[in-house]
Amino acid sequence: MTEGSLEEKDAWTQWLLKARYLGNPEYAKETLRYLRSFRDSVLDNAKLNGKEEFFLDVGSGDGLIAFGALERMKNQSNSTAKVIFLDTSKSLLEHCRQISTNIPNPKPDCIFVQGSAEYLPFKDGSIDVITTRSVLVYIQDKRSTIKEFYRTLREKTGRISLFEPIFGYFDDNGEDLNRYFACNVSEISDIATKIRDFYRSLKPPKEKDSKLNFNERDLISACEVAGFTEALLQLHLILEPQNKALGYESYLSIPPFPNVPSMKEVMKKILSTDEIERFENVVRPQIDQHLGLKHHAAHSLIYAMK
Ligand SMILES: C[S@@+](CC[C@H](N)C(=O)[O-])C[C@H]1O[C@@H](n2cnc3c(N)ncnc32)[C@H](O)[C@@H]1O
Repeated sequence: MTEGSLEEKDAWTQWLLKARYLGNPEYAKETLRYLRSFRDSVLDNAKLNGKEEFFLDVGSGDGLIAFGALERMKNQSNSTAKVIFLDTSKSLLEHCRQISTNIPNPKPDCIFVQGSAEYLPFKDGSIDVITTRSVLVYIQDKRSTIKEFYRTLREKTGRISLFEPIFGYFDDNGEDLNRYFACNVSEISDIATKIRDFYRSLKPPKEKDSKLNFNERDLISACEVAGFTEALLQLHLILEPQNKALGYESYLSIPPFPNVPSMKEVMKKILSTDEIERFENVVRPQIDQHLGLKHHAAHSLIYAMK
């Protein structure tokens, strides 16, 4: 593994276990509610049938999908079944291993593997089911990663069930400032533009940005090129209200992604005290009173059979 990915490991641990909830239990509860609905869709699409020997969750993070699989597989007939947690992050794997020690006699067995989705440390044709949730989106070459999944899947019955956001679907590079800030910022468009431009300056060009360099058609075509016999991609386009537990402080302090500064940090760096105050006067009431704009999102759910 490269130095870069080791740095990423720390950023992911910080993000998944701390930054994304920002010590706000109400916000965490709301976030977990929709994360669990994604987990349930991924596991439904995995079509577990009790015969699986190896279930592999790639980019297992804090165990959302893998622990869900463990729960669903606990009464299955195959007593040698294993749930494999695979992640680049050693500390997230350790976090999951700790959780698993609190489950009395977990069945199936849990295995923790540090590795990358791009080079899975498993033999050809050895895995029954591979899942991911929001992992391919952080990998540059999705086509070869899906090919790698195909290689490790068992002949004829092996399958993938993936959930990946399509961030590029509604992305306009922040042109619509109101949408970008999720509220009406026309009165302070000078300040909003400064913040938006700062974030723009941090972004790689679109073709090099793993979060934006693909769409749903690329994912289904990657399944075809890899050799899957059949694949189904469901695209969900979502218009959702602001999270009710999100107040102005959390709005400013939750970084949008790992390795990206929060708005609070950016404002402190590039705005004057007067500009910060003007921003707060306009934005705080809209966020605290939940008068902000609805959020657009696009999610893909992919099922493919070898
Ligand atoms: C957005 S989190 C998703 C975690 C988990 N799948 C979930 O549903 O909550 C992305 C995870 O992918 C891991 N990751 C990033 N790049 C990876 C790679 N190339 N191979 C395997 N895991 C990777 C990160 O360490 C992190 O745990």
